[in-house]
Amino acid sequence: MELKLDPWGAVHVDDYTKLFEVFGISSFDDILLKLKEPHPYMAHKIIFGHRNYDSVLRAMHRSEPFAVMSGFMPSGRAHFGHMMVMNEIIWHQQQGGDAFAAIADMEAHAVRGISWEKCRSLGINEYLLSLIALGFEPKEGSHIYFQSENYKMRNLAFELGREANFSEVSAIYGFSGETHISHMESVMAQSADILHPQLEEFGGPKPVVIPVGADQDPHIKLTRDLAYRMRKFLVEQRKDYISIRGKAASPQLMQAAELALKETGLGRVKRYEEHIDVTEIQDRSGLLSGAILEVIDRLIIKLENEHGHYGFIPPASIYHRFMTGLTGGKMSSSKPESHIALTEDPQEAGKKIMRAITGGRQSLAEQKKLGGEPEKCSIYEFLVFHLSQDDKELLELDAQCRLGRRMCGTCKKDVAERIERFLREHQQAREAAKERLPEFGIKAL
Ligand code: TRP
Repeated sequence: MELKLDPWGAVHVDDYTKLFEVFGISSFDDILLKLKEPHPYMAHKIIFGHRNYDSVLRAMHRSEPFAVMSGFMPSGRAHFGHMMVMNEIIWHQQQGGDAFAAIADMEAHAVRGISWEKCRSLGINEYLLSLIALGFEPKEGSHIYFQSENYKMRNLAFELGREANFSEVSAIYGFSGETHISHMESVMAQSADILHPQLEEFGGPKPVVIPVGADQDPHIKLTRDLAYRMRKFLVEQRKDYISIRGKAASPQLMQAAELALKETGLGRVKRYEEHIDVTEIQDRSGLLSGAILEVIDRLIIKLENEHGHYGFIPPASIYHRFMTGLTGGKMSSSKPESHIALTEDPQEAGKKIMRAITGGRQSLAEQKKLGGEPEKCSIYEFLVFHLSQDDKELLELDAQCRLGRRMCGTCKKDVAERIERFLREHQQAREAAKERLPEFGIKAL
């Protein structure tokens, strides 16, 4: 079967390494080695892939500006899958990033036909209260917003629309003649969500990471392309020099670029009609390193902005695995038995756990003999994803299960109790968050 990522359809990704080969997502392994205190999702390989996260990592290490941005479509109840995105946003905010969280009401209205009122109540009750309860902080430079109310973003969406044509978005999303225009606009809104943290009003160009599930990768790829297309220069490393090629850049802009490059003293700058070469680059190692390319690219991006153009750094992304649904298959907001909502009655949640599909065998005798299969168990997954930070404990459980010593009943009871406790605490924190909505510029319902 052909592997296809579809943001509005069901995706089942059984082999995540395929995503590396087919889509050009990079493995997170190399990044993990460079993180001193990775988030547990990273350490547990739940975050398995990325695009361009190096740019964010460098900014984090050098205490330079960076941001995190993601969005939630208010179409149903928020569950533990959504909580992963929330925690990833919060972690990056705690690492010093500006954090942006969008309620994608334009998308929900356009694609799912959800009324604006319903978008607002779901947005606040399901998503924002949990986001705040989990630790999102009101900080200068951090924003929670509804797409429909963010006109800086919406204006950018309109601009981006000039660079994306119908055949292209149809090829990416399978749009046809029947697809209505608002649906297409919501795609541009998402790209603008992702890029607008780099507008001057929000502190200018900086690395921005978008934490998402792999199904959102088509949006990421398109947005990275759009970011490049909005620029006036293409900065590339050639064998032993760096080429700065104008894309319909005005003569004034070419000249300004030439001057700015000369001022750096990084090498010999030679300007031609449509491009500039920087040769004889002074690099202590004697080799051209990616670092110099980045320095020059950032310089040009700054210049583009000063001249009223859109100099964007291509956004980065990180991808987490999907949780298996409690009924097997994908966890989905539209199938109540498959997930546990963050607002679920704790006791009801415990019951769902007791009914869930595990990696157990047909009979007790068989399980004692063969052992269970934790890699197929939605309950074990809950522990790994959310309920245990303790690697030793997880390894021990895994071993006991495989050896046929720990039975599903015991495991389920344990996990049910932990989930109930978690939900009780989380729901209390949500109550406290209700009072705090105005701190984020959100009017209570
Ligand atoms: N399309 C996303 C979803 O279906 C929501 C979303 C809107 C989003 N804007 C975004 C995600 C920007 C990441 C970045 O859940």
